Amino acid sequence: MAFRVAQISDTHLSEQHPEFTANFDVLSEHLRADAPDLVVNTGDLSAHGELERDDLAFAREKHAALGLDWLAIPGNHDVGNDPQLNGPTPADAERLSRWLGILGADHFRRDVPGWRLIGLNTLLTGTDLPQNEDQFDFLEEALATAGGRAVALFLHKPLCEETVAEEEITYWAVQPRPRRRILDLLARHPARFIASGHVHQYRDRGTVEGLRQVWAPAAAFMVGDTWQLPVGEKPVGYLEHLLHEDGRHECRLVQPQGMRRHDLGLMPGIYPAMRPLVAA
Ligand SMILES: [Fe+2]
Ligand SMILES: [Fe+2]
Repeated sequence: MAFRVAQISDTHLSEQHPEFTANFDVLSEHLRADAPDLVVNTGDLSAHGELERDDLAFAREKHAALGLDWLAIPGNHDVGNDPQLNGPTPADAERLSRWLGILGADHFRRDVPGWRLIGLNTLLTGTDLPQNEDQFDFLEEALATAGGRAVALFLHKPLCEETVAEEEITYWAVQPRPRRRILDLLARHPARFIASGHVHQYRDRGTVEGLRQVWAPAAAFMVGDTWQLPVGEKPVGYLEHLLHEDGRHECRLVQPQGMRRHDLGLMPGIYPAMRPLVAA
């Protein structure tokens, strides 16, 4: 019997946004019936947790009400974004401590038959907070002591957009410098797969540059092609990972009936207005 992980992502929960709560409620009902062994939320649990505590508390309540074993790592809307982006809400000590106070640990390690699951706070990796070094120590140790276990790595931001050699500072992926640090550790102790969220696109990249990478779709909304370049598919739903004890991994997209495919570009007022892409 494989261990079943439901990877949900980008739930963007807030009492102010009933459309996203409705999607989460449909997803919750589906998950309760399906009863995976573990639910992992790969970040952006909240809509505006980087600004105030209420959305984080609401997200915690909604996850607790699943009645399932669950773990979560933060996204940029939970703890702020990479300081390199020079945006108004950088990840910092205050935002991190708000998450820690309400949702608990921001990274995790969980052993299940044949596997070690590791979740990282990718927003911390762009900061110079002391907790960033602690997390790299944690990762190094978790990889070095995995023994014969297959390793699954869960991140909010994908490790890269197209290639690990990218040098641009972008909104979409782990920044180049922490990416190199993670890759150095993975070179010594490889991961069987890397699963991420954040882009609100489903993309099974297969194995590229020796890394098996898969991007989870969002649960709350997608962003239409008018505003966001499609590099994968844009359903709403989640990923089911089947972890076989012998290290085999299967992954599939699940789209529970009743989840609505909201287009954020058509929902003004939730986030700053989006600008249409200009054709090159
Ligand atoms: Fe998101
Ligand atoms: Fe995000």
